[in-house]
Amino acid sequence: MIDPWSSAILDYEKLIEQFGIKPFSELLGNVDNPPILMKRGIIFGHRDYGRIIKAMREKSGFAVVTGMMPSGKMHIGHKMIVDQLIWYQKQGADIYIPIADMESYSARGIEFEESRELAITEYLTNYIALGLDFKKKNIHTYLQSENKVVQDLAYILGRRVNLNEMKSIYGFSGSTNISHLYVPLVQVADILHPQLEEFGGPKPTVVPVGPDQDPHIRLTRDIAERFKSKFKFIAPSSTYHRFITGLTGDKMSSSKPKTAIFLSDSPEVAEKKVKSAKTGGRESLEEQRQLGGVPEDCVVYEMLLYHLVSSDAELKDMYHDCKNGTTMCGECKNTASGMMRKFFQELSKKRMIAEGDARKILNRN
Ligand code: TRP
Ligand code: SF4
Repeated sequence: MIDPWSSAILDYEKLIEQFGIKPFSELLGNVDNPPILMKRGIIFGHRDYGRIIKAMREKSGFAVVTGMMPSGKMHIGHKMIVDQLIWYQKQGADIYIPIADMESYSARGIEFEESRELAITEYLTNYIALGLDFKKKNIHTYLQSENKVVQDLAYILGRRVNLNEMKSIYGFSGSTNISHLYVPLVQVADILHPQLEEFGGPKPTVVPVGPDQDPHIRLTRDIAERFKSKFKFIAPSSTYHRFITGLTGDKMSSSKPKTAIFLSDSPEVAEKKVKSAKTGGRESLEEQRQLGGVPEDCVVYEMLLYHLVSSDAELKDMYHDCKNGTTMCGECKNTASGMMRKFFQELSKKRMIAEGDARKILNRN
């Protein structure tokens, strides 16, 4: 069982074996101009993504839905979702960004007003600063608590889901509060409502998420099937990306500040944090010259791979220089932390302008 509300680290291989997630590599070759996260295997799995490739090729229209549960500050790992949304926006997708304030109320005890503020000052501000264009017509952002269409759909769909099913998918028990029990249905409705007639009818839909969200995806796909005759839903597709490792080598998590580079950090702090990160270096310089480093176990390399080096050729050189023992970690950290500082200099400038725009987005509703 996968619990979307715990922060356990998942075994990616197991997901593919046990839950029927397919390796993304099998269809990477069919994607035109794949983004870095796909090319570099960070997006490692999918369900039914062929349908989305086809829709992109034929320009026949598709939707992307990916939400956020406001619970804390955004860290650099969360940037991956935004990178994907930016790419899909270029592919002409209809983009839906639910803000899961109902979920954070029932699963985290966060009040609605606090969620709204977090959504504005953290999530939307960063989304805009990172380059997602909310001025485009085909991008829809909403708070779950304010979306009557989504709430009504959740209620309608809920009739064909029973308590035993919810228990076996999520491990809910007798002490799970009823709001929490219900909130996955709201997420199912987030994902399926773009297919309602008033939003243009049935269409391929992709949900890019971390693998912890897969229980919701499975539930959504099952429910879509159950309501096929009523709504003509097309089962949604999904992709799964690896989580970024935290600075300490554990999972990066907003609730453990020592592990995370926050998008609201200053350029100096972000730079320092890269310098403090756990590397795949050896005990001594001598040893590293002889044996080379282990980029696969290196948080600094992950930063380069996920976020900092856009040129594949340049990244390849850095990888080999590490492996061969040509580059030492000190030097490598200097390069990486300098890149991070530059990235944050740009980002913090953009964040300053973005917050006003972020506030307007949620006031519109
Ligand atoms: N549950 C997601 C999270 O924890 C947020 C979410 C709400 C979501 N609705 C969604 C994700 C729809 C993908 C699609 O962050
Ligand atoms: Fe990591 Fe760079 Fe050291 Fe290699 S040289 S282990 S990539 S910090």
